[in-house]
Amino acid sequence: MIDKINELLQRVEEFTPKNLAEIEDFRIRILGKKGELTALMEAFKSVAPEQKRELGQLLNKLKTTALERINTLREQLQDASADNGATINDMTRPGSAEQLGSRHPISLVRNQIVEVFSRLGYTVADGPEIEDDWHVFSALNFPPEHPARDMQDTFFVEKNPDILLRTHTSSIQVRTMERQKPPIRVICPGRVFRNEAISYRAHCIFHQIEGLYIDEGVSFADMKQSLLYFAKEIFGENAVIRMRPSYFPFTEPSAEVDVSCNLCGGKGCPVCKGTGWLEIMGCGMVDPNVLIANNIDPQKYSGFAFGMGVERIAMLKYGVKDLRLYFENDVRFLHQFDTAL
Ligand code: PHE
Repeated sequence: MIDKINELLQRVEEFTPKNLAEIEDFRIRILGKKGELTALMEAFKSVAPEQKRELGQLLNKLKTTALERINTLREQLQDASADNGATINDMTRPGSAEQLGSRHPISLVRNQIVEVFSRLGYTVADGPEIEDDWHVFSALNFPPEHPARDMQDTFFVEKNPDILLRTHTSSIQVRTMERQKPPIRVICPGRVFRNEAISYRAHCIFHQIEGLYIDEGVSFADMKQSLLYFAKEIFGENAVIRMRPSYFPFTEPSAEVDVSCNLCGGKGCPVCKGTGWLEIMGCGMVDPNVLIANNIDPQKYSGFAFGMGVERIAMLKYGVKDLRLYFENDVRFLHQFDTAL
């Protein structure tokens, strides 16, 4: 039996087929139901116990060698046939499809918002993410003891209380006022940073779009009309807004803007928590102290400002329930936006 196994092993090792059909024939002859190896396995059952160990090992070796040899030969022949000139030079062969990337939902919504305000005459302004206290807080009328300045909300750079990661893009509005005299009409999109625990509804990095409009005779009614226009453009023609009194150090009076819930049409649903309204941004008339701090005469000029979170608008628009999805870059999530604007 040992001789028979060795002879078979040699044949397996020397086997050089010309095509796939020969390999299949060979496989059936050796490993098939009536194959030679199968017959040896059968005979193995009745060998003397003292021979079992040696013969068993040999048989196993034969079997794995045969399987490996057949697989390798098969792959070699398949590769060779894929590579032969006839197919390579076939210009009519369909190409392999490339996977196209898609825009990130945050970029999509940011672009939409920027586009809506540019139709109202706003231009985009930019500024640094690492800022100083003046541009993020002091020039915006934050009292020295304001909690937003606290370590709990703000990331400071190297323990220097003057250098920090901006907590809102209002800092860009300050930089614009430094550079430019009224009339000013800018929107400031950008990344902002707050020291918050990451959860489905909060993240330490997110995106804002803030706006600033300063000119002679700008009124609260102008602001209301602009924001209503924005809401209709983003959430649909039937959208309405309401304003609730609020507080920001840099605006007076200040308001929180709600848009009618676009999912239930204002009737009340889990997303709007039964109220029919969704909070989308903060806004207000620029506080005269801010104008003074930025060398703009509050007797002559007035203005309004607003600010919103891009993640929040995107969540409401696309029904995304967990903020963290925006940062994980899971392609299964991202590909859902392939066909979005
Ligand atoms: N800066 C505010 C924030 O980050 C938003 C805001 C901007 C509110 C302008 C009013 C006016 O929450």
